[in-house]
Amino acid sequence: MSINILNNKVFLLNTAHTSYAFFEDEEGILVHLYWGKRLNEIKDLDADTMEGEQAYHPNIDKKQEECSSYGMLRYKEGSMKVTFADGVRDFRYRVAGYHVDGNHLTITLEDVHYSLSIHLHYIVFEEEDIIERYREAENMGTEEIIFERFHSAEYSIYGTGYSSFNCNGTWADEFKPYTDSLNAGKKVYDSLRGSVAHVGYPWFIIHKGADETAGDVYFGTLAYSGNFKVVAEQTPYRYLNVLIGINDTDFEWKLKAGETFCTPSVYAGYSGAGFETMSNRMSAFAHHHVMPKESAKKSLRVLYNSWEATTFDVACEKQMILAEKAAAIGTELFVVDDGWFGERDSDHAGLGDWYVNAKKFPDGLKPLIDRVKELGMDFGIWIEPEMVNEDSDLYRTHPEWIYRYETRPVLEGRYQYMLDLTNPKVTDYIITEMHQLLSKNDISYIKWDMNRAIGECGSSYQKPEDYKSIWIKHVEGFYHIIKELRRLHPDVEFEACASGGGRVDYGCMKYFDEFWTSDNTDPLNRLSIQETYSYLYPIKYMRAWVTDAASGGSRTVPLSFKMHCSMCGALGIGMNLNHTSEEEMTQLKEGIAFYKEIRDTVLFGRLSRLKSCHRDDFHALSYQKEGQMVVFAFLIQQARGQQEYLLKLRNLKEESRYRFRIDGKEWEKSGAYLMYHGLFLNMYGDYMSKCILIEEV
Ligand code: GLA
Repeated sequence: MSINILNNKVFLLNTAHTSYAFFEDEEGILVHLYWGKRLNEIKDLDADTMEGEQAYHPNIDKKQEECSSYGMLRYKEGSMKVTFADGVRDFRYRVAGYHVDGNHLTITLEDVHYSLSIHLHYIVFEEEDIIERYREAENMGTEEIIFERFHSAEYSIYGTGYSSFNCNGTWADEFKPYTDSLNAGKKVYDSLRGSVAHVGYPWFIIHKGADETAGDVYFGTLAYSGNFKVVAEQTPYRYLNVLIGINDTDFEWKLKAGETFCTPSVYAGYSGAGFETMSNRMSAFAHHHVMPKESAKKSLRVLYNSWEATTFDVACEKQMILAEKAAAIGTELFVVDDGWFGERDSDHAGLGDWYVNAKKFPDGLKPLIDRVKELGMDFGIWIEPEMVNEDSDLYRTHPEWIYRYETRPVLEGRYQYMLDLTNPKVTDYIITEMHQLLSKNDISYIKWDMNRAIGECGSSYQKPEDYKSIWIKHVEGFYHIIKELRRLHPDVEFEACASGGGRVDYGCMKYFDEFWTSDNTDPLNRLSIQETYSYLYPIKYMRAWVTDAASGGSRTVPLSFKMHCSMCGALGIGMNLNHTSEEEMTQLKEGIAFYKEIRDTVLFGRLSRLKSCHRDDFHALSYQKEGQMVVFAFLIQQARGQQEYLLKLRNLKEESRYRFRIDGKEWEKSGAYLMYHGLFLNMYGDYMSKCILIEEV
């Protein structure tokens, strides 16, 4: 049973390998009890509370609450903050009841005086070992209640000395990993840019010296594509309090009489066996419950994208030449990136004008699409629908459709403004334009970009007193557009991009089929980006292109290394094929053909990060699905005097025999040998890589 309840007071949520428990204490407060390896006996869970009240350390502050609020005698950062119409600013509640519907538990908290209920939702995914949580606020009174903070969930992790793993970064430098010690005070990861953006990711990964295969890891990620906040606070009471949800900076939500407000979900879990189990549990959960159902089981096509080859110079004839070359190496989808619409010759003009540029495509997109189809490929295109350039017909017609403060000059980001998606006229316009584009042309893939951060949240459509809700309403508008386009065009594949990896989040995952991970396509940087990405995001969504980056200049990396690096995800090619030698074309062709054989194992298999490019002397990872395993090994720099690198595999069957070739020589070994003795790989010279296909006999 996934939901167990004792005496209507103690709640034990069980997944296949984990348990999460809490209870209603004698004061009607919902208090956390346990998170970790599975417990079977609910009767063991005595309601032990923290005792020992002291004037500065009242009991309510010490409790490991499931839903703490600002106010009363609480001094840690509460997970919500409300202001009632009379100025009272604490939520003083009692548990009012609960409801179970299959794997979904709802606990209702009611204020003792005001007509406010908070419903805490817990959905237990037994097989994947993940518990989804979100909250709903319901105003059952007659007066408005203002929410100034309303996180999706709160977690207590008992003990001290934890570490937290998250990222820092910028455009083209996403997923730079950092580990922070959580010894005192608060550690905050957040975004105020209107998307999750590149500076950090909406997740928590908390552990104490865990590694890939050992140690307790507590993790969770927010399914939201806007401003987020993660707070990990080491309380003085020997527990870590973790909050995750919509950012409370410049946040205000007015909950009118009779209204409800629902937070985005958090998907969280516990692994008692390190990071590898965490990643694979999240990935299985993403495949089964988050990705759009119609595409979750489909492989991604190998694509060619012409952006790095041509940038804005995308004339029809030139694209046809590239398409012929892309088809010759075996790509399955030809994508025209930025520059095909409006007066778009650079990033200074054209956004908002979603008609085909007649100078570049005198007969529309059809001749190019027909040629691409004739060549046996599908056709895809780039859009950035939330934006407008000042130099565009759309802006000239509707200058009032952007976020701005009337008394101030509008600020540009990449020479563009952000359209006001809180205004239904704007979202309708975007849906109509995109629907037309997709209806008139045989387009089966869209790369949806967002190339600036939001700012100046003022709107001619909203009242000034509601400006602080724009951050949320913008994300709702964005979700509305993509949902509508998917409904109208269910066969089109959508990729989420925001100047590279600014929209890698589980909110987007519900509506998109893949992520553009980063504009940084240098294979060495990519190995690092991809390794960190894979902690909580599925490999299937990790688009990875082979490009001309690292082909001279500061470094020259062999094409084989680049190919292997991109084959670790959803392969794409972004090279300028006009400058590619015959030998390289053959290499690309052979590489793509081989990738197609291993693609399902890479995109749907179990991932093992065998050696880290951040910590070890070489980098290696494997993907295993049924009887097939694909191993990639990368040597960035040869160590002095070292040519043999020992690699111990994981996730094989001890008793099974496996066949594989290394450097042209065939081998057969047992799973036990490969895992416990390991393989010696001969690698020498900088930028050496290997891909080994291992098949069960
Ligand atoms: C962003 C994207 C790139 C490319 C350009 C086009 O930077 O991340 O991949 O599409 O926009 O302008």
